[in-house]
Amino acid sequence: MMLLFLILPIIFADNRVEQVHLSLSGNMNAMVVTWLTQSPLPNVTPFVSYGLSADNLKWTGKATTTKWADEGHIGVHRYTHRATMRNMEAGTKYYYSVGSSQAKSKVFYFTQPDPSKPLRVAIFGDLSVYKGYSIKPLIDATHSNYLDFVIHIGDLAYDMQDDNGNVGDDYMNAIEDMTAYIPYMVFPGNHEVSHNFNHMVNRFTMPKNGVYDNNLFWSLDYGNAHFVAINSEYYAEGMSKEAKAQYEWLENDLKNNKAKWTFVLLHRPMYCSTQSSKGCDDFQDTLTRKGNALFPGIEQLLIDNKVDMVFYGHKHTYERMWPMAHGVPFKTADPSYIKNPAGPVHMLTGAAGCHTHLGPSDSIPQSFSITRLGNYGYTKLKVFNSTHISTHFIDTSVKVGDFLDKFYIQKN
Ligand SMILES: *[C@@H]1O[C@H](CO)[C@@H](O)[C@H](O)[C@H]1NC(C)=O
Repeated sequence: MMLLFLILPIIFADNRVEQVHLSLSGNMNAMVVTWLTQSPLPNVTPFVSYGLSADNLKWTGKATTTKWADEGHIGVHRYTHRATMRNMEAGTKYYYSVGSSQAKSKVFYFTQPDPSKPLRVAIFGDLSVYKGYSIKPLIDATHSNYLDFVIHIGDLAYDMQDDNGNVGDDYMNAIEDMTAYIPYMVFPGNHEVSHNFNHMVNRFTMPKNGVYDNNLFWSLDYGNAHFVAINSEYYAEGMSKEAKAQYEWLENDLKNNKAKWTFVLLHRPMYCSTQSSKGCDDFQDTLTRKGNALFPGIEQLLIDNKVDMVFYGHKHTYERMWPMAHGVPFKTADPSYIKNPAGPVHMLTGAAGCHTHLGPSDSIPQSFSITRLGNYGYTKLKVFNSTHISTHFIDTSVKVGDFLDKFYIQKN
């Protein structure tokens, strides 16, 4: 009997490595890897081992472990492990495995970002594990070497905390064949607000340059490009102290930014066409843009700092808009090739695949609107160099992944 009690915990301990995902830290010579175990790893230190070939993972990076509780009625504990691979060389292929002496992952690989090459980023919001139509096409694009990294602009899994966090586990395992090979960058949408953003804080490892170091807002330099992720849910949730801190941080971040191209991303749409003749006019959405006595609106800051593009999701569709300021579009001859835009170009890209979907016939086009698509898919942003960028909509409704709505910006 005594023996049984000693053996049982060993049998039921689940130390298997799950949900492996890479992320960028802002240090171009490092690569961060995060994974999860359902059980603690007493008396052993988790680590990443990596090297230049699959059979010689000669370097080791120790991981730190966070034990955290899901907010569901069972209060499941999970263990997130985070390690950094250092002294990496641009453009070099590395192999790696994560785990502990008890259980290791298979060997994955990635190419360390090379900022001197054109950059290709998949950008989308609102991707579910159930009806996640873009998951397979994103995995295929990863293994065809069409993407350098991914930014998911809020609303993951639907919802990570559901079913005692099992939905989050299922989602992270479903995308592992992408996220273990290219960095997966995230920040919250309205589906991540539960229990003070519990799952967003504890499952991921984003750049640590925000105010709170908790994955909710951050920025990242990559070659010619600067990406800034903003948490619109501080506005929607009435968190004015945090919204102000984020605004001051954003002001400073944009002031110090030297990159040629600047992209701002947030979950809630600043503009869009909807069934309402006024377009995106939900209180929580317009608050992030315009602000009020308690909340600083961000649009003027983006205009003043010459932000090139603003991406958002939340509405489950795709819409590309003219460069604009305060809803007034700056129209030029060719809507698919804009030279020296007079304001930030806005794009809604929330069509990756989830429970509800909106087609173009569901909306009344606003004066600032160019393209509205009803297909499932994601945006592929390409930064060629200091003068040219493009975006395409990758249709994932069809197997081959057609390129739709090709768009270019050229700057002097
Ligand atoms: C930048 O990329 C564009 C698109 O590929 C190309 O036409 C242009 O010549 C490039 N400019 C420079 C300076 O390399």
